[in-house]
Amino acid sequence: MTAQVIDGKAFAAKLRERVGEFAATFAEKAGRKAGLAVVLVGEDPASQVYVRSKGKATVAAGMESFEYRLPADTPQDELVALVRKLNADRAVDGILVQLPLPGHLDEKAVIAEIDPDKDVDGITPANAGRLVLGMDALVSCTPLGCTMILKDMLGDLSGLDAVVVGRSILFGKPMAQLLLAENCTVTMAHSRTRDLPDVLRRADIVVAAVGVPLLIKGDWLKPGAIVLDGGINRLAPEPGEEKGRIVGDVAYDEALGHVRAITPVPGGVGATTIAVLLRNAIVAAYRNEG
Ligand code: GUN
Repeated sequence: MTAQVIDGKAFAAKLRERVGEFAATFAEKAGRKAGLAVVLVGEDPASQVYVRSKGKATVAAGMESFEYRLPADTPQDELVALVRKLNADRAVDGILVQLPLPGHLDEKAVIAEIDPDKDVDGITPANAGRLVLGMDALVSCTPLGCTMILKDMLGDLSGLDAVVVGRSILFGKPMAQLLLAENCTVTMAHSRTRDLPDVLRRADIVVAAVGVPLLIKGDWLKPGAIVLDGGINRLAPEPGEEKGRIVGDVAYDEALGHVRAITPVPGGVGATTIAVLLRNAIVAAYRNEG
């Protein structure tokens, strides 16, 4: 049996279309476009690519994009001052501070400065807490996209065994909370988990979010499992390649023969993240406009 390949690009395209419609209605009603501000500190090449793509997608959806690129040695107080300025700016409905920040900056302190009503990443203490408490919250884009894909495929997730591999604030932790809210039995695995193959053996749903290339082998997965691979890892170049291949956390070719459905990398989970970001921005805009 060959697995169904879940088309993240098609899913994202549909979501972006819906967001575009909401953005147009918002602009008509509010007399201004919804605005999303993205802050990038430093010159990390992968982050630069993400930020450029986010800006383009924001404009394509009919929203205003505000981009702030700060030097790598920006001091904490300057970054905090920018976040406070964006909090106060009525034209800005959503604020995303691209992570990771350079090492000298206190990431948690910067995040805590973001107005929770503009926190399109869902990582402020207020939104993270609201998610845990089952209250209405802005939720991190990649795990929210994964949940949308799963619900689209399966409808009801009640009682399913789900394993989340990875415990980051942007992905693993909110992913586990979202699956719990869908009544899954959730196990969180991470870099210190003793026997990952054993943990994965029972999983109906596997969400990989560790950033270790090809970590999860095909024969670790339960036949019939649904696998969402959030890893985006660049391999070292093979002879004749200029750049190494991008792969996920799951050994995709092996997994294809074992599981019911799997997201490819690229073109799977990653493809949905920006669409969900735009969704969060328009949700924030409607709420903030009152
Ligand atoms: N870095 C990689 N993905 C993300 C994301 O979704 N949000 C933020 N803030 N930083 C990221």
